[in-house]
Amino acid sequence: MAPIRLAIVGLGKIARDQHLGAIEATEGIDLVAVASRHAKLDGVRCFHEIGDLLASDVEIDAVSLCTPPQGRFEQAKAALDAGKHVMLEKPPGATLSEVYALEALAKEKGLTLFATWHSRAAAAVEPARALLAKRKIRSVAVEWKEDVRHWHPGQAWIWEPGGLGVFDPGINALSIVTRILPEKFHLTRSELTFPANRAAPIAASLAFETDGGVPVSAEFDWRQTGPQTWDIRVETDEGPVVLTHGGSRLVVDGVQRIVEEDREYRTLYRDFVALVADRRSDADFSPLVHVADAFMLGRRIQTDAFED
Ligand SMILES: NC(=O)c1ccc[n+]([C@@H]2O[C@H](COP(=O)([O-])OP(=O)(O)OC[C@H]3O[C@@H](n4cnc5c(N)ncnc54)[C@H](OP(=O)(O)O)[C@@H]3O)[C@@H](O)[C@H]2O)c1
Repeated sequence: MAPIRLAIVGLGKIARDQHLGAIEATEGIDLVAVASRHAKLDGVRCFHEIGDLLASDVEIDAVSLCTPPQGRFEQAKAALDAGKHVMLEKPPGATLSEVYALEALAKEKGLTLFATWHSRAAAAVEPARALLAKRKIRSVAVEWKEDVRHWHPGQAWIWEPGGLGVFDPGINALSIVTRILPEKFHLTRSELTFPANRAAPIAASLAFETDGGVPVSAEFDWRQTGPQTWDIRVETDEGPVVLTHGGSRLVVDGVQRIVEEDREYRTLYRDFVALVADRRSDADFSPLVHVADAFMLGRRIQTDAFED
């Protein structure tokens, strides 16, 4: 099969930090174009926005959308309507109805829709899933606490409706938990802390319960300076299973089992190449469903105004 001719839409932080290098390192996919209003890239054709790209003479097979979630639906729909396969950054969209509409459209067109969850590609995730399938789980505690000023400097969209606020990182934790737990779970309590001047939360405290009644708690906070915490602790009948550093390390019963360098985006592009070859989609929206529930059931707490 000829390599996939890919265009990136939205050449911002994650496109530059991760996508460009991962595409370069992946067999079967070549970057041929970029659509971004304020950014250009040497060596490929550059366009202002996706409409210009799709109307041009540049031949592409697929687009990778690295824009903020608000507005992603129109871009994805335009690409699918033009017969292009689509890879979505997380979160896959700003609403549930729009992501399900994209899934249906991709199916109707026979195209690949890949709703990526980069944290699911972290090294400890699949080994933890295999281990937990064999153990009795007693409880799950997620702590996802980071410094928003460090990780999202000046990103205005993240504080707007649809930007998700602290759920932008928190949904990464939910993408891992929905993958590693053998049972489904649902939300039972949600407290969301909003800065007085912002439309999205800076912290969230959540409680869930699995179908079998196992408690799952999650604490997300964007105000943590110093060491950052991206941990998931699962208590089991045989001892704790702990994923740290965003899922790249695994500690089982107190013994460090996996420490691996970041390979998340290479895995995502390898998977995208395979999905396109088979004309399959991979679109699990369950992490976004949990976030939507957190907003639906959320008690709003107001805190100090936040300035970048
Ligand atoms: N930052 C991370 O560490 C990270 C990690 C994993 C996933 N992600 C996800 O990747 C997506 C993009 O995040 P990012 O951190 O790369 O954001 P970003 O730095 O703000 O980049 C997004 C790019 O999209 C373009 N864009 C199009 N419409 C826009 C709009 N209405 N507002 C702002 N930018 C717009 C902008 O480029 P032009 O102005 O040139 O059009 C911008 O540079 C998000 O869904 C995020 O959750 C981010």
